[in-house]
Amino acid sequence: MQLFIDSADADEVRATAANGFVDGVTTNPSLIAKSGRKMKEAIAEICSIIPGPVCAEAVATDVDGMLAEGRYLARIASNVVVNLPLTENGLRACRTLADEGVRVNVTLCFSTVQALLAAKAGAYFISPFIGRLEDKGMDGMELIREIRRVYDNYGFATNILSASIRSADHVRQAALAGSDCATLPPRIFAALCRHDLTDSGIAAFLKDWKSAGQSIL
Ligand code: E4P
Repeated sequence: MQLFIDSADADEVRATAANGFVDGVTTNPSLIAKSGRKMKEAIAEICSIIPGPVCAEAVATDVDGMLAEGRYLARIASNVVVNLPLTENGLRACRTLADEGVRVNVTLCFSTVQALLAAKAGAYFISPFIGRLEDKGMDGMELIREIRRVYDNYGFATNILSASIRSADHVRQAALAGSDCATLPPRIFAALCRHDLTDSGIAAFLKDWKSAGQSIL
């Protein structure tokens, strides 16, 4: 399973990537706004840090605007993936960009039939937003399981990129559900490695080691 970082802050991406587990990056207009940087600069810098997919989102809502922005974003670096929202216009633009060889991540997916359409439109990634569904009292992981089943039933190559991840347990559940990738905020990346029993186990080892009065080197 590939792990992406959900951030438009190049310093944050660089720091998290030092763990060796960052396969790609997702950004969205809210994250770019939060970074306070020009989109092209932020995306170019992140692409120079991470060789894997770096998602940059178009903000136009009409097909021609999405195509113009998508082509512009795709020229920033060869690893840019263009994010388009799951609207009828987004899917039409997805089809055209995919035919031109541009990889598209269809975002803001909240249903299995939306994901089916994105696959038929040639999406490289589909991004179901787990946390936002659960905020509304719905089962985000059941959505991932259903999309997995539909894609496998029909041999769609579209990759499932579980997004809006709010906890380390979401990552566990997405992995069990067969998600190809998950995109995590930096704090969740940090939480993946931690376990109380690991911490208490180390403390016990060190205490016992001290009483042994030895040194390894
Ligand atoms: C992914 O592409 C999105 O940027 C992200 O996962 C949204 O997460 P949020 O619902 O926590 O804003």
